[in-house]
Amino acid sequence: MQKITIAIDGFSSTGKSTVAKQIAKQLGYIYVDTGAMYRAVTYFAMQNKYIDKSHFDIEALVTSLHNIRISFKFNENLGFAEVYLNGINIEKEVRTLEVSSFVSQVATVPEVRYQLVKQQQKMGKDKGVVMDGRDIGTVVFPEAELKIFMTASAETRATRRFKELSERGDNVSYDEVLHNVKERDYIDSHRADSPLVKASDAIEIDNSNLSLQEQFDKILQLVNTAL
Ligand code: C5P
Repeated sequence: MQKITIAIDGFSSTGKSTVAKQIAKQLGYIYVDTGAMYRAVTYFAMQNKYIDKSHFDIEALVTSLHNIRISFKFNENLGFAEVYLNGINIEKEVRTLEVSSFVSQVATVPEVRYQLVKQQQKMGKDKGVVMDGRDIGTVVFPEAELKIFMTASAETRATRRFKELSERGDNVSYDEVLHNVKERDYIDSHRADSPLVKASDAIEIDNSNLSLQEQFDKILQLVNTAL
């Protein structure tokens, strides 16, 4: 059967990855979480003290980009691929609020984007891919057959993310999470290189009041019309 490229973009914590994983599983497609790649670079920058609350040494990060190898490995028990940095599983480490608080700054750096976009294009070159992020339908795969743009109110998204982090045992407040969601929305939409914008041919889905099943059914229906 003909395979297509499915690009799912949108604001932080819209639940893109949850539905994207399910769609990929249903279709037997590869799923790529591009946010995890920007998070991995951020984690690397934090570990090497290139970024913290008071400074960001962009030059040092750019100079050492060649030392960063990001990969994904499918975890049978979890049912999805986890992210690895230079062969080490960092799936849990990249999901903290601390990484979230720096990732949008790291994602403004054109050299970082260039490297990651190249790798993403390679991963999806044979189609049969569901990729989620901020610039998939606009920059990574502007020719994607199906483009979805997910939205939901900042409060809805912060509530979901707060629940997720609390369940994992992270000691964060709802206000901190809401602040982070709004801050990332702002930086992601206002950066000069590949800002978060809805592609003109993307279909917008506001999932504030949609269950996961309803989102899944809606996207699957769109896939069937795109095939
Ligand atoms: O999707 P997730 O929330 O994990 O993404 C983390 C951050 O990575 C985003 O807030 C954004 O700054 C950056 N990102 C990006 N381009 C992508 C995916 C993520 O700039 N394609």
